[in-house]
Amino acid sequence: MKKTFFITTPIYYVNDVPHIGHAYTTIAADVAARYKRLAGYDVFFLTGTDEHGQKVQQAAEQAGREPQAHVDDLHVRFKELWVRFSISNNDFIRTTEERHKKVVAEILQKLYDAGEIYKDSYEGWYCMADERFWTEKDLVDGNCPECGRKVDKIKEFNYFFKMGQYRDWLVEHINQNENFIQPRSRRNEILGFLKKPLDDLCISRPKERLSWGIPLPFDDQYVTYVWFDALINYISVHGHLEQIKDSDYWPAAHQLIGKDILTTHSVYWATMLKAIGLPLPQNIFAHGWWTVNGQKMSKSLRNVVEPNRLIDQFGVDVIRYFLLREVPFGLDGDFSHKALIGRINSDLANNLGNLLNRTLNMLKKYFKGELPKPDVKGDEDAPLTAKSAEVIKQVDALYDELAYSKILAKIWEFLDAANIYVNDTAPWNLAKTDDGKKRLATVLYNAAEACRVTAILIAPFMPETADKMMKQLGIDTPVDQQGLDSIKKWGWIQAGTQTHQGTQIFPRIEDKAAAKILESVTLGDDDSISEKPTEANGKGQITIDEFMKVDLRTAKILEAEKVKKSKKLIKLKVDLGTEQRQVLAGIAEAYEPEQLIGRTVILVANLKPAKLMGHESQGMILAGSNDQTLILGGFDGDLPPGVRVK
Ligand code: MSP
Repeated sequence: MKKTFFITTPIYYVNDVPHIGHAYTTIAADVAARYKRLAGYDVFFLTGTDEHGQKVQQAAEQAGREPQAHVDDLHVRFKELWVRFSISNNDFIRTTEERHKKVVAEILQKLYDAGEIYKDSYEGWYCMADERFWTEKDLVDGNCPECGRKVDKIKEFNYFFKMGQYRDWLVEHINQNENFIQPRSRRNEILGFLKKPLDDLCISRPKERLSWGIPLPFDDQYVTYVWFDALINYISVHGHLEQIKDSDYWPAAHQLIGKDILTTHSVYWATMLKAIGLPLPQNIFAHGWWTVNGQKMSKSLRNVVEPNRLIDQFGVDVIRYFLLREVPFGLDGDFSHKALIGRINSDLANNLGNLLNRTLNMLKKYFKGELPKPDVKGDEDAPLTAKSAEVIKQVDALYDELAYSKILAKIWEFLDAANIYVNDTAPWNLAKTDDGKKRLATVLYNAAEACRVTAILIAPFMPETADKMMKQLGIDTPVDQQGLDSIKKWGWIQAGTQTHQGTQIFPRIEDKAAAKILESVTLGDDDSISEKPTEANGKGQITIDEFMKVDLRTAKILEAEKVKKSKKLIKLKVDLGTEQRQVLAGIAEAYEPEQLIGRTVILVANLKPAKLMGHESQGMILAGSNDQTLILGGFDGDLPPGVRVK
């Protein structure tokens, strides 16, 4: 029977603007999923969006829309970002989907019938932002202990899940299952938390206060608390309760989360599963948080590192590599462009790029690119193949701990060994004599196999790079068909293979270019990563670099409607290829909304969002105007949405 492997990310708040923090968890899960597939596992990798709750209801109200329409639009930003990041999730669950809502209702009813849920009056301090109740003693300076915002005193009847009764059982479970909560420091933190009595969990919200949620099946005056609803996504994806019990994918091998949501997972979720009668996940791994140049990244659009922009600038694989190499998984990390460029130049351009490049170069020079047969063994060969076997084994063990940074360091140890092998065997000298040439064949064969082994090992982290390397090595068999087994024995690559040296996989970022990048990103006044203010040069001129800071994009108008009580404003929904935006344009005196739909216009895509007559505008559309006329800028041919305009 095939071994199965189920891995999950948190489901992200659909309202949030996706940033590198979200990308971090998702990439980490993707790497483990890809590795297990290579190792022959039947993998199920789940991510999704959390779409109920007060914040969504409020945002939809502000946008003047039904919450469902609102989340239908917003969740796409996550889906599209995951495509850009080469995320290989098998499913994407949304909590507003019927398949999920049915299971939540089924579980609630089951727990209610079993006496695990009761109704009681409740008085507490409520934090609207976190959608959580706090007791008086939890508060810090009278504010929410989690986010520091103001809390409101609320007294109401609600439903409660009898969570408190499971405290001793949970402590026992954590003590007996060393890997249940990782890293160790987080496990201790939860054991510390469980030293205090555990309250029951309020799992409902009265409909009059919050209607955007899953109705309680036994009382239609209430909806389900958003966390109780959201956590169930991890099992609702497998079907109804009986199906979950039989599912090959439950319990999960790893549930990856950020440290901020450890209590909800290791306490709420664990006790919920216990009450439902389902096994607990084997591992909940709480990773650290990213700051940016030492500053906390806030959830608002203005001070987050925008992943799409990073991908445009550096490429997908570079970001995937950097995030997992730079900081040990589990610790906090700081994002900086300087560190990123450092990694590109040393690890990627130098160590990795160099091995592939010099190998292909010499194959071309000495064997017209055709991989020779390895006949003559030498003293240097055995240490290289032994290192390969050792690293493959160590990497496999490190995956159990999700020690991504160590895994990459190990792979780079092998890369170093391969580069040393080339140095020590000195092919350029071997090429000078006839005897040497025989040995040269073996050396370059081994160097090529070392490149292939490296490509397979890095494939989970850098799938595009692995494919590029295979192409240059002349190997048509896709990485996943070669599989991990193909590197367990040295010598899979076939003599006679025609290699094709292509462009450098990771060109160095030279000092001048690096300085320019670093100069363009500075910390703004509002703690945000922002572009440095334009420096006028006295003549009112700007440099080409300054101009290029304006991100002009083609945008296709999907919807248009006049803004009530405004003579000039039209509210547009535009498609940017990777996302949809709401943009307000002062063009109502020149255009009727119907005339606009389907047109491709030019959008200033990196303009700071602004509120116009209560509506957020996420960009600006270009038009030419004088006193009499206003005409939208456009093109005399078709261009798809999202194309850069220069
Ligand atoms: N919707 C809940 C999770 C429900 S799971 C049943 C939620 N969503 S969230 O959008 O706020 O995203 C949470 C996750 O995003 C964090 O737990 C973490 O995985 C990731 N990150 C968000 N900001 C982050 C950083 N600055 N750094 C690293 N990861 C962070 O909570």
